[in-house]
Amino acid sequence: MVFIAPSILNADFARLAEEAAKVAAADWLHLDVMDGHFVPNLTVGPMVAGSLVRAQRLPVEAHLMVWEPEKMIPWFIEAGCRRIIVHAESTPHLHRAVTTVKAAGVDVGVALNPGTPVYVLEHLLEEIDLALVMTVDPGFGAQALVPATLPKITRVRRLIDERNPACHLEVDGGINAETIKSVVEAGADTLVIGNAIYAAPDPGAMLDQLKALAEGRV
Ligand code: DX5
Ligand code: ZN
Repeated sequence: MVFIAPSILNADFARLAEEAAKVAAADWLHLDVMDGHFVPNLTVGPMVAGSLVRAQRLPVEAHLMVWEPEKMIPWFIEAGCRRIIVHAESTPHLHRAVTTVKAAGVDVGVALNPGTPVYVLEHLLEEIDLALVMTVDPGFGAQALVPATLPKITRVRRLIDERNPACHLEVDGGINAETIKSVVEAGADTLVIGNAIYAAPDPGAMLDQLKALAEGRV
């Protein structure tokens, strides 16, 4: 089984409830939180996260692309996000950030930018619910997948299988009908997909098609 988490980054922000309803058959909803410093773009905060949690039925995961996420983690937990993903590059206190999320009974993920080595997961792997291998440099939707991230996915898969098989391996960025099989074959089990879904004339049908491709049914 492959899980799909549509990213609403390329959806219409003035109609988030309607946009979310188009992907109601997905497994998660992926909310990209950008602070204009850690990444060169600015999106939404905990108030919009809370509205989105209440406006639809999918569990929401918050992908925090912000410096020092520790102070914002409680805000997104309070907003009702069911998974919080922090970037390894965004804080010197990554372990503290992870344990803060876990202490609240919320799932935690750690994200690695394309240039960040896999070994930063070394001392955390047993404590996390998800490792996110960024397949683009974060900040924008609709970018091309960085090919060097494919062997990286496979290395993280091996580490997860050895040390914490329950941990999910998520990928984010540049996933579309052309690239989807390569990331699944490399070892991903959870796929964030933004532009490929929301630029399609029928996002719900595209979601079904991508899921069938990912699961090898077509
Ligand atoms: C990139 C974001 C992604 C992005 C993925 O900074 O973290 O979640 O929305 O979008 P696509 O699928 O368009 O590359
Ligand atoms: Zn994201």
